[in-house]
Amino acid sequence: MSADVRPVPDHRSLAPATRTVSLGRPAHDPDAPLNSPPVPAGTYVAGGDVEYGRYGNPTWTAFEEILGSLEGGRALTYSSGLAAATAVLDLVSVGEAVVVPVHAYQGVLHQLRDREQRGLLHVRTVDITDTDAVVRTADDAALVWLESPTNPMLEVADLAAVCAGATEAGARVVVDNTFATPLLQQPLDLGADVVLHSATKYLSGHSDVVLGALVTRDDATFTALDEHRRSRGAIPGVLESWLAARRVRTLHVRLERAQANAAELAARLTEHPAVSRVRYPGWGAMVSIELAAGTPAADLMTRSTSLWVHATSLGGVESLLERRRRWKGEPESVPESLIRLSVGIEDVEDLWGDLASALASLPAP
Ligand SMILES: Cc1ncc(COP(=O)(O)O)c(C=O)c1O
Repeated sequence: MSADVRPVPDHRSLAPATRTVSLGRPAHDPDAPLNSPPVPAGTYVAGGDVEYGRYGNPTWTAFEEILGSLEGGRALTYSSGLAAATAVLDLVSVGEAVVVPVHAYQGVLHQLRDREQRGLLHVRTVDITDTDAVVRTADDAALVWLESPTNPMLEVADLAAVCAGATEAGARVVVDNTFATPLLQQPLDLGADVVLHSATKYLSGHSDVVLGALVTRDDATFTALDEHRRSRGAIPGVLESWLAARRVRTLHVRLERAQANAAELAARLTEHPAVSRVRYPGWGAMVSIELAAGTPAADLMTRSTSLWVHATSLGGVESLLERRRRWKGEPESVPESLIRLSVGIEDVEDLWGDLASALASLPAP
């Protein structure tokens, strides 16, 4: 059985939908399996390129090949999105500065604050929608950390302008592309140095995997991260990598449906009297709402749906909702009543019916 991944020549000329389906597969040899099989390997027979289970695995490679092609770089998978974030932050030398969005995934913000408190780096916080401020703040910084759209405020950065300015200032730029996915935004093409994914979300898309990934465009950064992963050991599981490679194949159809649902729901929510604000970038499948009746009503709302599941996380086929400030690490500038909706691929009328009846059950503001 050959577990080697078959490189597809000129894959960049193929549409992303074709690449998600056709990359990361074994060679088309008689009786070869169509899909890369899961290869549980703690070690390998000596004399080859990989040698040991912590250094590489053909199951990781299959997923990395697909994601790398979609993002336009070389991918490395990790045990979680946060493990991938840790690897990037470990590249920052002691005493250097990191530019950080006011709003971003709270686990990343927490880790940055923790590193700052231990004297490892300096955190400079900016509003990522203010391009001039981000570029000004990037002066003398080692790293600019971007998330666009941001979690959960759904702010959008001008990535091309920010990347150009930050690079000019000498900073490396990392973009957390979890919310956009490589189908809607390719930050490396816009000038970023590293792209991060919580592959737990849209890439895997079924809420049954925890996995992370980084994608780089230059060899030096790839090598530094690869060596870091070998030596720190935050490697992905074989089952998770295999599931992610299966699931990413349908990313384009899942996203198409989820986006159409999100656009329709955002429009209806904007008209609803119980909703005081809708945050929706106009693309993607994430929508955040605020309720006129405030925080208790928001908590009640998350307990009042039957189809929408009250759960954290996002990017799955099933629709989820949660009030983000229930987490104590969430920045205080995130409104208390903000409910983040991860719109799935169910029938939009069923999704609306469930939301509308939960909204109707709330007390008047
Ligand atoms: C935007 C974003 N980045 C990174 C992470 C961390 O990923 P993981 O939960 O896979 O460690 C998350 C998790 O929610 C996220 O939403």
